[in-house]
Amino acid sequence: MKYVIAANWKMNKTISETRDFLKTFIPMVKGIADVDIVIAPPFTALAAAAEELKGSTVALSAQDMFWEERGAYTGEVAPGMLLDAGCSHVIIGHSERRQYFHEDDAVVNKKITAAHRAGLKVIFCVGESLEEREAGKTFEVIQREVEKGLANVSPDNLVLAYEPIWAIGTGKTASAEQAQEVHAFIRKVLVGLYGSPAEGLRILYGGSVTPENVNTLMACKDVHGALVGGASMKPESFINIVSFKKEN
Ligand code: 13P
Repeated sequence: MKYVIAANWKMNKTISETRDFLKTFIPMVKGIADVDIVIAPPFTALAAAAEELKGSTVALSAQDMFWEERGAYTGEVAPGMLLDAGCSHVIIGHSERRQYFHEDDAVVNKKITAAHRAGLKVIFCVGESLEEREAGKTFEVIQREVEKGLANVSPDNLVLAYEPIWAIGTGKTASAEQAQEVHAFIRKVLVGLYGSPAEGLRILYGGSVTPENVNTLMACKDVHGALVGGASMKPESFINIVSFKKEN
């Protein structure tokens, strides 16, 4: 399975910072063909990023979108607008969207459905909070998020990302065992939904991934990539993650 390494810049980087990053980063990825690389800048920098990425194999992603195609939805961005800006991917259901913008499973499901209808590839995020983990509810939460988020959704153009909320931006990475345990569980839920095509779905890990811990995490059987926040902001750091070596 081809691994996916995706950068989620969240609410960071102006247009010129985005251009500067890509001018340094794009030459660094020349010759790397065995990993799908995706970059998700903020909305305002997407079109500029698309210009910089012309002719490169690095894919462009948005961090969110609305499910309607157009209309009176002040402040929102439609799937077709993302395509127009040069995106091939969109991240849906990130825990920060769920936490700060009250997105529930039904909203996430509508967004994934609309993204697919428009022809966008979806990076769909799930993950439990520390409170939920400590209460022994990790599997229950993950199962609900996966099943509700993916109700009537095709397994095509779909990548999952397991991001334990307690590991995001905290420097506390899930151990390889913790990641593998949940990834294997997600795989099981996906097989329940899709049958054998689920075996081909890639499940990324996200949460304090760094050049130092990426090799160990990528060695887990059901981990097929990473969704990286903080450590994706500098080209030197992100290229070290993209060029991970699987430990055996
Ligand atoms: P950090 O890598 O900064 O922990 O962020 C992870 C994340 O939320 C990526 O979507």
